[in-house]
Amino acid sequence: MSPRETHEVARESATKAPPFVLVIFGAGGDLTKRLVVPALYNLLKTGLLPDKFAIVGIDHNERSSDDWRKHLHEFVDNAAKQKSGEFHPGAIDEQAWSRLGDAMSYLTGDFLEPDTYKKLGAHLAELDKAQGLGGRVLFYLAVAERFFGAIVDRLGAAKLTDERGDSWRRVIIEKPFGHDYASAVALNAQVLKTLHENQVYRIDHFLGKETVQNIMALRFANGLFEPVWNRDRIDHVQITVTETIGVETRARFYEPTGALRDMVPNHLFQLLAMIAMEPPVSFGAEAVRDKRAELFSAVRTLSPRDAVRGQYGTGQIDGKDVPSYRHENGVAPDSNTETFAALRLTIDNWRWAGVPFYLRTGKRLARRYTEVAICFKDPPYALFRETPVERIGDNWLVLEIQPNEGIRMRFNAKVPGPHMVLENVAMSFNYADWFRQAPAVGYETLIYDCLTGDATLFQRADQVEAAWRVVQPVLDSWAVTKKPGFPDYAAGSAGPDEADAMLRHDGRAWRKIGP
Ligand code: BG6
Repeated sequence: MSPRETHEVARESATKAPPFVLVIFGAGGDLTKRLVVPALYNLLKTGLLPDKFAIVGIDHNERSSDDWRKHLHEFVDNAAKQKSGEFHPGAIDEQAWSRLGDAMSYLTGDFLEPDTYKKLGAHLAELDKAQGLGGRVLFYLAVAERFFGAIVDRLGAAKLTDERGDSWRRVIIEKPFGHDYASAVALNAQVLKTLHENQVYRIDHFLGKETVQNIMALRFANGLFEPVWNRDRIDHVQITVTETIGVETRARFYEPTGALRDMVPNHLFQLLAMIAMEPPVSFGAEAVRDKRAELFSAVRTLSPRDAVRGQYGTGQIDGKDVPSYRHENGVAPDSNTETFAALRLTIDNWRWAGVPFYLRTGKRLARRYTEVAICFKDPPYALFRETPVERIGDNWLVLEIQPNEGIRMRFNAKVPGPHMVLENVAMSFNYADWFRQAPAVGYETLIYDCLTGDATLFQRADQVEAAWRVVQPVLDSWAVTKKPGFPDYAAGSAGPDEADAMLRHDGRAWRKIGP
């Protein structure tokens, strides 16, 4: 069978979203041009946007709708020409773009000024009257965390979140949802004063990644895995999310944030949930979200003893010298911020008791790579007494998430010849061999789901809070204890020695970073 275009499959299986207005707060920001607008363009190209829709950008900069459109066109066109992995190489399809461009308008406004919301209300009414968009409005908060609650309050005060029948009003809230447990609880309380839980779409873009969603298909659409998916057969699980990029231009955000807060209670926990949750009774949003929430509440609150932090020093990435974290723009010369975190998690339920889940993530590591690796328990090796231990490898099931998407199984096989000699071999499945990827920035699924009211891949209030609860003691401890050894790993390496020591202590070792 030849690879199929995923957008062909999408077209066959999905229906167009209903007419809507999308209001983007933070229209001049990075997220809007890098991810939201390209995702809308890709949705339009794949035929999933309706014939009638409007996109309204709001930001504090004075500019015209025309200027906003032109700026986005230039950015998206350049990205397409440079083929950043998100577009077909070449150029964008001008006809498709002009449909998107024609739907765009821009409003200048301060997010905190009630006047902005008056203007927005009048503009929405006009658009609806002119085009008949069914009163459906999706507000996308692509803004700094401090504005989330304030914008929702003001939308509510201006009656812009009131729903009538099919005229839904939904709000997408970006990451980070809070910066710790207490702030997440407070933000949930603030947002839920105005909105019902089913109007809130807390986004975590890891859930938009195809292979993350595919974990559910692998586990629940096959009879092979679920019977061995437990503490009887699984020794431990490793979740690795490594990056080669450093802090880039984001020091203002990253310095008070650090690797743990930036990646773990959100992105790595989404991977954890997909791997470890119980089977839901259906793929209905609440059924799946109940199971994710249940899993998070079974994760034992972390002790600082089960956590290792690191910070990158100088080193080489792709053969080029790179500065240490403390020498990056905007970073304090004695910064205590971790750029690497490794954790040992325990899940207190019948399925997972006694099975450690090791998580690690960091910047400026050997390669950009994300995988979930499940290590199965050894069989009794009595028959292979004579085989040197190093020839008997573990049984691994490895789910590669990025940059390439695939599934590998490692098992022991007999080397051809007169003697029973073993070797650990690999069996591989690559998505690209079966499905030709449609160009995607990862946000397409999430925006489409929101337009069609499917909250399965979004975070519910209780999940967000439960995830923060797990990591809170480590956040607290790291905030008040200075790490004397920083920087403690070279850029381009596999992270600090302490992370290796954590697994060595348990008689295990991290997998090498990469396929
Ligand atoms: C973001 C983090 O949420 O995810 C970044 O703030 C990180 O620090 C990014 O680089 C990783 O996402 P992806 O999709 O590039 O793996």
